[in-house]
Amino acid sequence: MKFSTLARNGLPSLSILLLLFCLMLSVRAAAAEDGQHLGVASCAGSTCHGATSPVAGTNVQLNEYVTWVRHDKHAKAYELLLSDASKRIARNLGIGEAHTAKVCLDCHADNPPANKRGPAFQITEGVGCEGCHGGAQNWLSSHTAGPAHSDNVAKGMVATDDPAARAGLCLSCHFGNQEKFVTHRMMGAGHPRMSFELDTFTQLQPAHFVVDEDYRKRKGATSGIKLWAIGQAVMAREHMAVLADSRRNRDGLFPEFVLFDCHSCHSSMRNKDWQPRSSGVRTPGMPHVNDSSLVMLQVLTNVIDPSLGQAVSAKIRTLHRDGATGMAQLSAAAGDLRDLTAQMATKFAASPFDGDVMKNMIRALVQAGLDGNYSDFADAEQAAMAIDTLIAAMRNEKAASEEQLAKLSKSLDAIYAATANDETYQAGRFNTALSGVRAALGG
Ligand code: HEC
Ligand code: HEC
Ligand code: HEC
Ligand code: HEC
Repeated sequence: MKFSTLARNGLPSLSILLLLFCLMLSVRAAAAEDGQHLGVASCAGSTCHGATSPVAGTNVQLNEYVTWVRHDKHAKAYELLLSDASKRIARNLGIGEAHTAKVCLDCHADNPPANKRGPAFQITEGVGCEGCHGGAQNWLSSHTAGPAHSDNVAKGMVATDDPAARAGLCLSCHFGNQEKFVTHRMMGAGHPRMSFELDTFTQLQPAHFVVDEDYRKRKGATSGIKLWAIGQAVMAREHMAVLADSRRNRDGLFPEFVLFDCHSCHSSMRNKDWQPRSSGVRTPGMPHVNDSSLVMLQVLTNVIDPSLGQAVSAKIRTLHRDGATGMAQLSAAAGDLRDLTAQMATKFAASPFDGDVMKNMIRALVQAGLDGNYSDFADAEQAAMAIDTLIAAMRNEKAASEEQLAKLSKSLDAIYAATANDETYQAGRFNTALSGVRAALGG
């Protein structure tokens, strides 16, 4: 509830303050404190998570360490800071050495403050177990006794099984948060462009966990389509939160460019292919906000809750139209969208995304492209990952025949070919690929 609504209802200001105070207390109590980070060695004992192959008769695999150290790029995230590419970025930014710069370590390693580092902690381990699961001090000894997962979470283990919490965790590094962020300056210095989609990246990370019957019993399971939907809601919220925040939405004279569509500035002057977007307001000659997760939410909500879909569309239009007039206007429109999207993860978690919804969602994603919504590469990239996720979800839930699934999988080849290179992306080619998906889906 907004402060202004409370005030309008005529509550005396003292009770507002009391209420806010109680709210603050309860938020504090809910977030368990992060304990000391003890280092990967404290997880990787041979009788703990350091087995060489999955161990039978236990709930978890117990070879998580081997999966991580051999196959997971997070184990190499620190080493990457010693590479020539990183040296160049650090030199260009004038920040000394990449592997000692806090700004790089915050995402390329588990980097808790000095008082949260146990005796065996080593920064060189990169994004280790506790970089995702949280400092183990307060749950290390008890979590092996098989308490409910919620007991561990109460002691500071990160709720990686909860889709919204997981999205927040991954995005803290794969986009940024209040404390850390890849700015356009860093990209200008050579940092790669970043993109993220929760289900796709969950699939891409070499799995050290198996969602089987016992996992479902202990933690429940979230379908791929729900992970996608919740991931989009959290991503849009985080993006809009930065745009709305006057400390983070600009850099000196200019707005923070990383929040805008890269190719609205980085394209050839010879192109002369600017077109208004049919569904939104865009200004020629002006960079526009990267709205790829908003466009996904627009499609998604149009399918499951059309009136919400209309609200999203209207607010996206305001973001582009008013946002082009000044920073204060941009910030206000983004704040509006941040508030609207903040409630969506909970809504999506409770929505049934069944077979029909999946098919309708693919159709809607195709139509959105044919209606001219994927003029930016970032939109097409998100749509490609979404369609892939939805086809995989249909396969998992046996929502189509084998023959149809084979056709759909085949139609993805053209989707990926059309999004293989952001520099040469052409919406027309992507739309042809989208038509192929529609044909594979049939009537
Ligand atoms: C907000 C988090 C964040 C910050 C801050 C950050 N990075 Fe990264 N960096 C990432 C992520 C996430 C990736 C992987 C992106 C992907 O593959 O999707 C990455 C990728 C890279 C890559 C390319 C890796 C490859 O395989 O091509 C280099 C090099 C790099 N970072 C160096 C740096 C340096 C140097 C700094 C400090 C100036 C830094 N990063 C700051 C999150 C961050
Ligand atoms: C990049 C983030 C990340 C890193 C790094 C990571 N994990 Fe995980 N881990 C996850 C996610 C996501 C899950 C799945 C959600 C869940 O069950 O909580 C998971 C699940 C698990 C599970 C639970 C399996 C189950 O059946 O309940 C164990 C055990 C585990 N990880 C151990 C480890 C260990 C040990 C390491 C270090 C060697 C590690 N993880 C590193 C993200 C990570
Ligand atoms: C503490 C920061 C951090 C967190 C948290 C984190 N990542 Fe990463 N992730 C990175 C960095 C840095 C890289 C690049 C490592 C490299 O290229 O060596 C990376 C790389 C990846 C890659 C490989 C991408 C590629 O281009 O091959 C995947 C997949 C991935 N992360 C998924 C996830 C998922 C899923 C989560 C959440 C469960 C997550 N990450 C949480 C920092 C993080
Ligand atoms: C509002 C316009 C604008 C937007 C949006 C923008 N950039 Fe830039 N970018 C610039 C300018 C200006 C430069 C500096 C060019 C120069 O130094 O010659 C630059 C430089 C760069 C460079 C260095 C190029 C070189 O010559 O070494 C990279 C890489 C880069 N941007 C990546 C990105 C990425 C990735 C995005 C999207 C996430 C992005 N930019 C969004 C305006 C923009």
